[in-house]
Amino acid sequence: MRTINIGLFGLGVVGTGLLTILQNNRDLIRARLGAEVRVKRIVTAHPEKPRSVNLAGIPLGTEPAAILADPEIPIVVELIGGTGAAREIVLGALEAGKHVVTANKALLAEHAQEIFGKVYEKGASLGMEAAVAGGIPVLRSLKEGLAADNILEVAGIVNGTCNYILTKMAQEGAQFADVLAEAQQLGYAEADPTFDVEGHDAAHKLAVLVNLAYGTTVPFGAIYREGISGITPMDIEFARLLGYNIKHLAIGKLEDGRVEARVHPTLVPRDHLLASVNGVFNAVFLTGDNVDATMSYGRGAGGLPTGSAVASDVIDIARNVLSGIRGRVPALTVVAEALRDLPVMPIEDISSEYYLRFQVRDRAGVLARITTVMGSHGISIQSMIQPSQADHPDDPVQVILITHRARERDIRRSLSEIGPMDFILGPTQVIRIERVGT
Ligand SMILES: NC(=O)c1ccc[n+]([C@@H]2O[C@H](COP(=O)([O-])OP(=O)(O)OC[C@H]3O[C@@H](n4cnc5c(N)ncnc54)[C@H](OP(=O)(O)O)[C@@H]3O)[C@@H](O)[C@H]2O)c1
Repeated sequence: MRTINIGLFGLGVVGTGLLTILQNNRDLIRARLGAEVRVKRIVTAHPEKPRSVNLAGIPLGTEPAAILADPEIPIVVELIGGTGAAREIVLGALEAGKHVVTANKALLAEHAQEIFGKVYEKGASLGMEAAVAGGIPVLRSLKEGLAADNILEVAGIVNGTCNYILTKMAQEGAQFADVLAEAQQLGYAEADPTFDVEGHDAAHKLAVLVNLAYGTTVPFGAIYREGISGITPMDIEFARLLGYNIKHLAIGKLEDGRVEARVHPTLVPRDHLLASVNGVFNAVFLTGDNVDATMSYGRGAGGLPTGSAVASDVIDIARNVLSGIRGRVPALTVVAEALRDLPVMPIEDISSEYYLRFQVRDRAGVLARITTVMGSHGISIQSMIQPSQADHPDDPVQVILITHRARERDIRRSLSEIGPMDFILGPTQVIRIERVGT
């Protein structure tokens, strides 16, 4: 039986998960591939660290060249993370004519042009299934399952930490900061949670999704990003009264030659499938012009789920290597000549329905003044609630409006006119509403 050698960079959560899978499911993988996958060498920052996986017979070191210069290793697996050493390793491996598997969404999103440019130049394969929604095979659906469809929309819950926090806030009526502290204790949130809760991680994943969906490399900085730290239990409760759950969504579309790409908290109708995706779970809707809406659900993180996606990419590329084929499936779903440079639509140009929570003085005529301004910008109101009256005349009351579909630019103009009015007692909460897949 033939052997396919891989060189592994990084032996953390995902690296250890990958090794465990390759060891536990060795016979199965051999049966499916018709060859043995062998980890020929591992490079990691601290080779002496104790590990929870059997490393017998695998040489460990710190020197990238031990893998990159080894002609017997056709596939390099990068599981270090970050955009420093990982970038050099991935580019070095591609330059050396190797194929690459990575789970590194930050690298793929922030250095898309450079990395994919090299992949296409070298005719290499780049496996990145683990970079988006962990163990859920979403990218393979985009590349192969939906190869004949125009992708009308990619949208989903792609950050388990945000989803865990929003779920707990909804279930317990708890404040964001309290649930975050609990999530950190349980290991569902990092010590520095900014990256997750402010939407950077979701934006990285969305960049990968839209780049594949539309055969492009969008500038990462152009993706619109809002996190969940401004969501209050009050908003979750008012949304519930109006028939919605609040989820942190990543949304990508192609409108008139411009990519719409945004991550932000979103009101999702309570009877929509995404509304019942709870806890650390992820779910991604892919909508094609022929297939219509599809949804994939599962674990977006963790050593074994993410390791499963990495191992599947290794097997996929190993099949090509065994057949003597390079770059069989284009990394960005289209061949090099069909790649496009698509601009990202500014957030002001998107249209959506909106949840607006105004904090106002409890007096007659306030609602009429708000709706008059909104009407002057062509925004019409779908529904309204004013759940309580003020105990004291100086206390704000909350007025919640749900708009019909409107341009973000018009919403912003209205709010900049309403904001300075004398009855407004605090900042207005703005949350977009989406009906994904419809
Ligand atoms: N964790 C998840 O559930 C998950 C899910 C999806 C995607 N990902 C992605 O998978 C990648 C790895 O994540 P992880 O959670 O496994 O990270 P991790 O647990 O922090 O492990 C990182 C590994 O990289 C090694 N390393 C760091 N710098 C290095 C360098 N300069 N040279 C060689 N080795 C180096 C570390 O070595 P030592 O152990 O020797 O110190 C460690 O083994 C990241 O891109 C991440 O975004 C992770």
